[in-house]
Amino acid sequence: MASKAFKNGVFITFEGGEGAGKSSQINALNEKLNKLNYKTVLTREPGGTAGAEAIRHVILSGSVEKLGSDIEAMLFSAARSDHVEKVIKPALKQGKVVLCDRFFDSTRVYQGITGKVDMDFLYSLERIACNGIWPDLTLILDLSAEEGMKRANARRDKNLRPDRFEKEDMQAQQKRREAFRLIANQEPNRCALIDASGTAKQVAERIWNVVQTLLERKTIDNG
Ligand code: TYD
Repeated sequence: MASKAFKNGVFITFEGGEGAGKSSQINALNEKLNKLNYKTVLTREPGGTAGAEAIRHVILSGSVEKLGSDIEAMLFSAARSDHVEKVIKPALKQGKVVLCDRFFDSTRVYQGITGKVDMDFLYSLERIACNGIWPDLTLILDLSAEEGMKRANARRDKNLRPDRFEKEDMQAQQKRREAFRLIANQEPNRCALIDASGTAKQVAERIWNVVQTLLERKTIDNG
């Protein structure tokens, strides 16, 4: 069967707090789309290019924390810019479905709404980093902070130290959940809030319902 492509590609981002199951769900969706002959690119932030992975390493090690929140936000955005130009835009141009684990909503939530960075400053960085591309769909995996921390702790390799953001406590997790829910409320056309409780299979079904509708709409639009 010929592979299925879209005129301007389809850009889907995944968001949520620690332990919400983003990584396994994004992998499951990628496999499903490939089986259905969609060409996909699976990527993540911070990261996705050699330069952005280098920035990721510096940020998550915590060594830029002392430079302050604004600089940290600028580094996330610098990594995003490289990622957008070198990976996301070219893939969309080829008509692919791009699945990205975290994108600008993570910056809004971690650095902005629950952090110290001014939102207007972040929106300016967003415009520069995205440079004309925007997610068609953002899936926000929503889970209680307690359940998320439980899952994240169970999954974490005992030999690995928690990263810069994982160190933070339950209250921070709770605030982030609320921040993601706020964005979902503010931008219902782009965002879908996905109940991330229950089994992985149940969550995957909830995700598929939303993605299927988007792909059908995109197919008609291209028709
Ligand atoms: P990662 O190990 O990829 O986390 P997860 O598995 O939870 O997605 O680490 C990325 C961390 O960086 C995560 O705690 C969220 C944070 N982050 C920001 O603070 N701002 C951002 O713009 C992005 C993309 C991530």
